Amino acid sequence: MTTALITGSTAGIGAAFARRLAADGHNLVLVARDTKRLREQATELHDRHGIEAEVLTADLSAEEGIKAVEERVGRRRDGVDLLVNNAGFGNKGRYLEVPLADELTMLKVHCEAVLRLTSAATEAMRERGRGGVVNVASVAAFVPRGTYGASKAWVVQFTQGAARDLEGSGVRLMALCPGLVRTEFHERAGMGTDNIPKWMWLDADKLVTAALADLARGKSLSVPDPRYKAMMGVVKVTPRALIGGVTSRTGRKYGPK
Ligand SMILES: NC(=O)c1ccc[n+]([C@@H]2O[C@H](COP(=O)([O-])OP(=O)(O)OC[C@H]3O[C@@H](n4cnc5c(N)ncnc54)[C@H](OP(=O)(O)O)[C@@H]3O)[C@@H](O)[C@H]2O)c1
Repeated sequence: MTTALITGSTAGIGAAFARRLAADGHNLVLVARDTKRLREQATELHDRHGIEAEVLTADLSAEEGIKAVEERVGRRRDGVDLLVNNAGFGNKGRYLEVPLADELTMLKVHCEAVLRLTSAATEAMRERGRGGVVNVASVAAFVPRGTYGASKAWVVQFTQGAARDLEGSGVRLMALCPGLVRTEFHERAGMGTDNIPKWMWLDADKLVTAALADLARGKSLSVPDPRYKAMMGVVKVTPRALIGGVTSRTGRKYGPK
């Protein structure tokens, strides 16, 4: 039986990964900050699918939290076969409206934690000659959108570069770039979503199914929906200044005009 560790497993996309991987018979290590919610999730997945679900409470914006998960994914015995770096959040506001401390926390969770966990996991996986890492980025990686977009662009560049460097090692890395997904993300960030058309919302379970299929195909980048694939095609050939004008306004009703 293989083991998958998912950060941010208790809600949204992470919870969809946990449901799907448990249904496929993988043991799980569930990581987030809320221990009660983690324990409830572990019990539910164990009872429903008969898998072992371990709880690891960790705040990935803090040194101790990152260290604890690094230790778990880096184990040589009783190791992790699949790492899903999914934990993340949004900050409400345009540039200079967001406190600098919150921007730095975002870089810690989206970039430093992802770098350190990926590195600890892939070292151990390379020794075993097999393993996989999914780093959850966003389509925001391809457009100018503050520290959030920049941090996700880093995830994409880092993951695709590392995937290339580890080619032939048996270790697969893939950056996953979802469009808008109905989760707790926007509410947690206090972002209004009323002006976002219905057709733009993706379902987390379908997203995960498509993402795991892309990982199995050996892709290093996954944009798992035809709507967003088409949009990203348009973004590639549109001037950055024009794109920036749109992305600076979209979903930011709360900011000053
Ligand atoms: N929803 C979207 O439209 C969308 C689109 C593109 C990309 N994404 C990306 O997808 C990923 C998951 O987002 P989501 O929409 O599923 O969000 P979500 O529903 O808000 O879930 C976030 C998960 O991350 C955990 N988490 C947050 N901060 C953490 C920290 N400091 N340390 C450890 N765990 C932490 C949360 O649990 P605790 O609060 O208990 O820690 C929760 O389990 C993020 O990386 C996000 O940027 C989301």
